[in-house]
Amino acid sequence: MSSDGRHPLLKVQHLSYTLPHKTLWHDLNFTIYAGHSIGLMGPSGSGKTVLLRALVGLEYLTTGQIWLHERLQSDWIMPQYRTHVMYLPQRAQPVLTSLNASVLQELQQPFLLAVHRSKVFDFELAQRHLTALGRDQSFINQPLDSLSGGELQLLALVRALLLNPQILLLDEATSALDHTTTLACERLLLQWCTEQPARALVWVTHQTDQQQRVGRTQLHLTPA
Ligand SMILES: Nc1ncnc2c1ncn2[C@@H]1O[C@H](COP(=O)(O)OP(=O)(O)OP(=O)(O)O)[C@@H](O)[C@H]1O
Ligand SMILES: [Mg+2]
Repeated sequence: MSSDGRHPLLKVQHLSYTLPHKTLWHDLNFTIYAGHSIGLMGPSGSGKTVLLRALVGLEYLTTGQIWLHERLQSDWIMPQYRTHVMYLPQRAQPVLTSLNASVLQELQQPFLLAVHRSKVFDFELAQRHLTALGRDQSFINQPLDSLSGGELQLLALVRALLLNPQILLLDEATSALDHTTTLACERLLLQWCTEQPARALVWVTHQTDQQQRVGRTQLHLTPA
């Protein structure tokens, strides 16, 4: 429990990651509590993306352990773990590759997977999120191959919010967006993080103004 009474969601102890030619980070220890919005900072190449990928179980650690809800990451069934901890990669790509697939189909696709089958796709909520991000009502029917890089980022974000993870890891998730849309994303995400008791955000961003707006807690990666 944190000093302000919040529950720990994810705990990290003694994490190190060593490449053949360098150590990216050494003996990282931190806890992500419900309600946290954490800014993860560090220069290019310091291992921010590798750390987010490790938190979602996509990297082999050199040392250390990660617990989600006090259960070791290695004891989870990974698809289930990733319904709780979701990662938005630095380059947003749609999952569907078929010609003429639409925004709506892309948003609905994960609900067909066994791991999400207990969830129901909420069309109204999808439209509300898209509207909050400045998209008009017709956006949801647009073909995926007509979307800009920034619009693909918005789509990835809304897709993740609809799946309702507990921890959302954002790897420069607004890097392709204009300032107004970036602010809209921040508002939506911070509201999402606080409206239910057990959610948290981790933001990787190089924009110092964004770090200050969203990183209520900050974690710095410095070369090991
Ligand atoms: N599988 C790998 N094999 C070799 N080197 C790797 C591997 N994965 C990452 N690296 C190296 O680790 C370093 C950290 O990469 P990472 O992508 O995490 O940096 P970053 O902090 O996210 O940088 P940026 O701010 O530019 O996105 C880089 O030097 C990268 O080349
Ligand atoms: Mg990166």
